Amino acid sequence: MYNEFHLDKIDLRKQPPQEEPARQYYFMAKCQEWIKAFKQKNGRLPKACVTTFGCQMNARDSEKLAGILESVGYEIIEEENADFVIYNTCTVRDNANQKVYGRLGVLNGYKKKNPHMKIALCGCMMQEPAVIEKIKASYPFVDLIFGTHNIFKFAELLTTLLESRGMVIDVWEDTNRIVEDLPVERKYAFKSGINIMFGCNNFCSYCIVPYVRGRERSRSPKDIISEIKRLVADGVVEVMLLGQNVNSYGKNLKEPITFARLLREIEKIEGLRRIRFMTSHPKDLSDELIQVMKDSKKICRHLHLPLQSGSTRILEAMNRRYTKEQYLELAARIRKEIPDIAITTDIIVGFPGETPEDVEETIDVIKQVKYDNAFTFIYSKRTGTPAAAMEQVPEAVVKAGFDKVLKTVQNTAREQVARYQGSVCEVLVEESNENDASLMTGRMSNNTLVHFPGDADLVGRLVMVSLDECHGFYYMGHMVTNIS
Ligand code: 5AD
Ligand code: SF4
Repeated sequence: MYNEFHLDKIDLRKQPPQEEPARQYYFMAKCQEWIKAFKQKNGRLPKACVTTFGCQMNARDSEKLAGILESVGYEIIEEENADFVIYNTCTVRDNANQKVYGRLGVLNGYKKKNPHMKIALCGCMMQEPAVIEKIKASYPFVDLIFGTHNIFKFAELLTTLLESRGMVIDVWEDTNRIVEDLPVERKYAFKSGINIMFGCNNFCSYCIVPYVRGRERSRSPKDIISEIKRLVADGVVEVMLLGQNVNSYGKNLKEPITFARLLREIEKIEGLRRIRFMTSHPKDLSDELIQVMKDSKKICRHLHLPLQSGSTRILEAMNRRYTKEQYLELAARIRKEIPDIAITTDIIVGFPGETPEDVEETIDVIKQVKYDNAFTFIYSKRTGTPAAAMEQVPEAVVKAGFDKVLKTVQNTAREQVARYQGSVCEVLVEESNENDASLMTGRMSNNTLVHFPGDADLVGRLVMVSLDECHGFYYMGHMVTNIS
């Protein structure tokens, strides 16, 4: 639909339209004029860099930011020594915040040498009032700040920034708006993330996401399907459906629909080869979803099912709304119905009140479920969440528990990943290997990485690879036949 907008044809003498996304296209046209003037004056196009912190949702948001910057004429580069740098921030754990503060110092050094340089900050961290105060007080060289709810307004904010002096701040507390059809600059030609919903209603007691991303809002199935069709026509073969809790997709729509039904509709899209999704909250995972995954030829054999803790007592304090036994039963049911599935998880160690016995419960679940991979995090206290007011666990106790959990995860993962040694598997080729240019890197349906000798023109193709040697989390192999 955004093809209907031609920036050159927009009449800038008129007032900006009120409706979206037309309003943003008007401001993109304005930015484009500014860029033309910049080029005339400086003999070059301005350069922009988008840096992403955090999750896949943020990565997708960054593609939208880059899409707008590119449409208006910026040259997109990877280096932060640019004329416009935007940090799309994360605040799920405090170390993400600290990283941003540290790197802002470096950006200030660049800015002192480049009079054109503008610095922008957006994303989850900007939804915290204390962060805004700190930036105003200690990082006055930042030019633009906005949050997660008004990212669709980026073109408008960029115009304000280019036309004014001083810090521009626009952070909304919440929104129920979803603006469709803005430009996107994809990182990969052959795969793409798709937002199917925004926000979270679960309020796990340690988690800041519901406060910074707002309440759950689902996109309409029609918009999702037409976006995927457009992507497939543009060469995409794999999509990753994104939401904080995809299992509650569709509940708040005027015509409610389940996530499983949405998957059935997406499966029908011709030319689409692989469907992935994340994240699934165990409390909402339905039998209908298991059945759809089982029947599907396109849904990948991978389920990310965050455990967080294996102790029912801690799960209750975390407000996760399942017990250890319920989780184990669910995992067993999934493994029984879909034996070749890989299950991965997130685990937090050091939640307030957690004892070494609770950690043993977590280790027991890891051993029983046999995860293919697990992201293990040390609990991070987030101001404003209920867990921040609870009694914290001493650092040394947390560290000991963390090391033990990590070791267990590594052992089960090594065993699980090695299950396919010697077999031939379909792999989507993603890129040339970073360390050895003669090798290509691809991903199995179950998300395991495979490296094998091949040429760069295989990128984006599905090929059959013999899995010769398992090296912990990945395989070395060789290509058998080319299937697409
Ligand atoms: N501390 C540590 N880990 C956290 N996560 C969310 N909030 C916190 C926190 N306060 C982890 C959870 C979640 C993942 C995305 O981040 O495991 O699943
Ligand atoms: Fe955070 Fe829980 Fe929502 Fe996930 S489900 S984003 S952990 S509150």
